[in-house]
Amino acid sequence: MTVRHLLEVDDLSPAELAEVLDLAEVTPPARPLEGRGVALLFEKPSARTRNATEMAVVQLGGHPVSMRGEEVGVDGRESAEDLARILSGYHGAIGARVFAHSTVARMAAAAGVPVVNLLSDRAHPTQALADLLTLRQHFGRGLAGRQLAWVGDANNVFASLSLAATLVGMGVRAACPSGFGPDDAHLARVRALGGDVAVTTDPAEAVAGAHVVSTDVWTSMGQEEESETRRTAFAGFTVDAPLMAGAGPDAVFLHCLPVHRGEEVAAEVVDGPQSLVWAQATNRMHAVRGLLWFLTAVDRG
Ligand code: CP
Ligand code: NVA
Repeated sequence: MTVRHLLEVDDLSPAELAEVLDLAEVTPPARPLEGRGVALLFEKPSARTRNATEMAVVQLGGHPVSMRGEEVGVDGRESAEDLARILSGYHGAIGARVFAHSTVARMAAAAGVPVVNLLSDRAHPTQALADLLTLRQHFGRGLAGRQLAWVGDANNVFASLSLAATLVGMGVRAACPSGFGPDDAHLARVRALGGDVAVTTDPAEAVAGAHVVSTDVWTSMGQEEESETRRTAFAGFTVDAPLMAGAGPDAVFLHCLPVHRGEEVAAEVVDGPQSLVWAQATNRMHAVRGLLWFLTAVDRG
């Protein structure tokens, strides 16, 4: 039996990614998770991911069991590997939001069922699936050749979105303050997939001619002690109306949420006509439903 996991979005081939997005757009004709559970572990807070994933499991006919990290004591009460082994005995799949990417990778290595990364310090692949679904709904399936501009921190959300955009043939232009750009290993990973990626410290340069402008918080969960330093470093990286104007009138704005209006994005943009953020948030549910359907079908095959 083949067990497939999703630790990062490029665990899917371009064809598989298209299949997951296709599945996300249809209501399952049967209840593929009937009588099965899905364990959802959260070491960090979540509103969208927990609600979207629990409801996706319900829509697939399964039963979600959400746990906070402190309830189960990952690597304290028992190891991540032992937890993954026992959860595999009850559930058809496991999702985990973790501080260290290595935790979800270790769970996948030990699990007997698919493990989905619901956000780590390195990646947020289910967010990237929802982002592509949102862009497909807006622009149609022909995303190849379109340009994605990322403004801000080259964080977990950027990592997954830049890989996902590459898998559908989009170009990526990132504007990040010095010291907050993508590392060489990530750029090499994007380029190994055939990605067209460039990095600058000038937001106007990155957004020029872009079809999509995306950003995220300046301080991610777990980095709270750096928030003052980051606020200073990211000055000038707010996505506001003048910056969006450089991308052209047909460009759209994405943000994974939660948002800090007046920091990484101005209210006029996130609440304005070019913003797709509310559809993007709802699409978290549709995208993870398509993914769980795909992974558990592969698992059974
Ligand atoms: N976008 C996202 O992952 O939101 P939550 O942290 O609320 O799950
Ligand atoms: N980069 C953010 C995303 C939250 C959904 C974080 O990791 O906190």
